[in-house]
Amino acid sequence: MKALFLNGPNLNLLGTRQPEVYGRQTLADIEALVRARATELGVEIDFRQSNHEGELVTWIQEARGRFDAIVLNAAAYTHTSVALRDAIAAVSIPTVEIHLSNIHAREEFRHRSLIAPVCRGQISGFGFQSYLLGLQAVVTLNERS
Ligand code: DQA
Repeated sequence: MKALFLNGPNLNLLGTRQPEVYGRQTLADIEALVRARATELGVEIDFRQSNHEGELVTWIQEARGRFDAIVLNAAAYTHTSVALRDAIAAVSIPTVEIHLSNIHAREEFRHRSLIAPVCRGQISGFGFQSYLLGLQAVVTLNERS
């Protein structure tokens, strides 16, 4: 199984960015944890980050035929991006939405996710563990399919 992890804007700043909200792990730390667990589970992963909406859209489009699942932390684009939503719907690759923080316990504008309706599910609020739970979720979805 091959899983694509995509990270949206400002997640390259993890470690120093509002650590009280997002934790002290850098994105590289999280990637290392995900890679270690993926190896145990026999999952091949690709792990990417972009601050550009269009680049994320292109990566989702290119995932067709190459990846079995996507784990997506769309960051702020979660709340704004029709383009990301349309890309996920277009490729029909099982996608799990993840967030470090609990978006439903924060400002009201974060409560709405434009991508949630086209994702298989949402994991929100478990810090870096959200990434490991996201990995587990796509493995489970893949086993069921
Ligand atoms: C986030 C939550 C978003 O609301 C925010 O814009 C982010 C990170 C999270 O992982 O908690 O950049 O997706």
